[in-house]
Amino acid sequence: MENILQDIEKVLFTHEEIVEASKRIAKQIEEDYKDKEPVLICTLKGALPFMAELMKHIDIHVVTDFIDVSSYHGGTESTGTILIKKDVGMDIAGRDVIIVEDIVDTGRTLKALIENLLERKVASVTCASLLDKPEARIVDIEPDYIGLICPKAFVVGFGLDYEERYRNTPYVGVLKEEIYS
Ligand code: PRP
Ligand code: MN
Ligand code: MG
Repeated sequence: MENILQDIEKVLFTHEEIVEASKRIAKQIEEDYKDKEPVLICTLKGALPFMAELMKHIDIHVVTDFIDVSSYHGGTESTGTILIKKDVGMDIAGRDVIIVEDIVDTGRTLKALIENLLERKVASVTCASLLDKPEARIVDIEPDYIGLICPKAFVVGFGLDYEERYRNTPYVGVLKEEIYS
């Protein structure tokens, strides 16, 4: 039998640590958005487990939506732009949007997505990311709410994939090198 855990070098963040980080961010969002009704926009597919964990701890009204984007480099290295594979289903003009991400790596996806949402005249936009990998950053962008700081390793799990696998673990772990090399 093939289990997933045998492909994992080590568990970086346990499910308990992920839940704690999600609760902490949820409380910050409650405080910051107490007089608002933010739109949580989950970026598919990676952010799905974090979205589900985060939203259940936010005890104010929110609405939820989903977007599927892929980032690619337009013209120069720094001007990343995104391809929207599946757009949100609601009118977000005038709304306070919180982008929910699993990881901010180079920052290209987040930067381009923020620019795209601002063009649609949202009232405000912030980002809550389960993981932040600052050492991998190429464009200058920071998530507003950060769950856990991720080292510069090949991490999978809790939404993060390698060739579409490993999204379905309750933990985030480092993938064994033999799997991807
Ligand atoms: C991954 C991850 C983030 C993005 C971060 O998504 O889920 O959305 O890349 O990378 P960046 O900071 O370098 O732009 P991916 O595009 O692999 O799609 P997925 O969520 O469906 O796996
Ligand atoms: Mn993603
Ligand atoms: Mg991916």
